[in-house]
Amino acid sequence: MSSLFSPFTLKSVTLRNRIAVPPMCQYSAEDGFVTDWHRAHYAGLARGGSGLVIVEATGVLPEGRITPGCTGLWSDAHAQGLAEIAASIKAAGAVAGIQIAHAGRKASAHRPWEGDDHIPAGDPRAWTPMAPSAVAFGKHLPRVPQAMTLDDIQRVQAAFVAAARRARDAGFQWLELHFAHGYLAQSFFSVHANQRTDDYGGSAANRGRFLLETLKAVRQVWPESLPLTARFGVIEFDGRDEETLAEAIGLTRQMRDEGLDLLNVSVGFSTPDAQIPWGPAFLGPIAERVRREAGLPVASSWGIDTPELAEHAVSSGQMDLVMVGRAQLANPHWPYHVAMKLQQDRPAWVLPAPYAHWLERYRSASA
Ligand SMILES: Cc1cc2nc3c(=O)[nH]c(=O)nc-3n(C[C@H](O)[C@H](O)[C@H](O)COP(=O)(O)O)c2cc1C
Repeated sequence: MSSLFSPFTLKSVTLRNRIAVPPMCQYSAEDGFVTDWHRAHYAGLARGGSGLVIVEATGVLPEGRITPGCTGLWSDAHAQGLAEIAASIKAAGAVAGIQIAHAGRKASAHRPWEGDDHIPAGDPRAWTPMAPSAVAFGKHLPRVPQAMTLDDIQRVQAAFVAAARRARDAGFQWLELHFAHGYLAQSFFSVHANQRTDDYGGSAANRGRFLLETLKAVRQVWPESLPLTARFGVIEFDGRDEETLAEAIGLTRQMRDEGLDLLNVSVGFSTPDAQIPWGPAFLGPIAERVRREAGLPVASSWGIDTPELAEHAVSSGQMDLVMVGRAQLANPHWPYHVAMKLQQDRPAWVLPAPYAHWLERYRSASA
């Protein structure tokens, strides 16, 4: 039996296998509302066989979106379309997850295929990004953000809580807090972005405060029976990796003690000068270390795009779940093909009946 196709239970939720669709922005929303694109996209991915489908980074506030095309969850009206998406994911046999986010100093950017850079200040589509300190990311994201006041911090944390409540009421069963990729929460943690001299800056404990407080506040409204997870960049590849990893693992342990159920291990992306060793499944050993040292289930991604790499990541104990992004954009039935390759078994457990019935018949006819 392949490890990849063994079920995974976290709290009251059981995934049919260990393959997940990670959050992937589609930049196709209108004023934060989902469109037909999202409806087709997410239902199609869920039909492809993954155990978990996580809806893209969804802004807890309008100014927390990366681009004007990003989805939002700052009003009850926004939750309606997302509820339909959650239902379509579940109808296809997958667990419905959502990532809630604030983009911090990387907000107010053009869509990737329109430049991926900051929309210039003064353009009617632009807004002023906010961050722990008035320090720009640099390179293609040159805008200097507004440094957040304590009131701003509380307002954003309250927005995370409100978005979590709406996600719960919309029927999502898995919540991922976006604490990664140089966005707001990651930039509180990062020495590249955080130069505060108050309780939210300086020591590792202070830089982790925004993340820990946000997690604790969300845990109050997110049901105890459902997985509360976070995506967090535990390494920057900036030359101070051991220090960052030790601090990140320490914070992950604290988050675990406050109710974090799983960490989606990722890269910090807090500086444009990072030297990232891109390669097949390059984060696998880092994920394994976090899993072992922080003592909680982990997921991870980046370059896990073959059946062998995915199976190895799970069977070797590096991670509990593999997050497979671009390979599933290229082939939404990637889990089915992987299952056929690894198990040579029945397709029925990865595909809904209207597909599985015919593919199984086809297999027995051609066997
Ligand atoms: C189109 C696209 C959009 C993405 N949007 C998000 C996002 O909303 N939130 C997030 O945490 N990561 C995002 N990512 C990163 C993916 O979740 C994933 O980690 C990355 O694609 C690496 O996995 P892969 O090598 O399997 O593609 C995005 C990636 C892509 C390709």
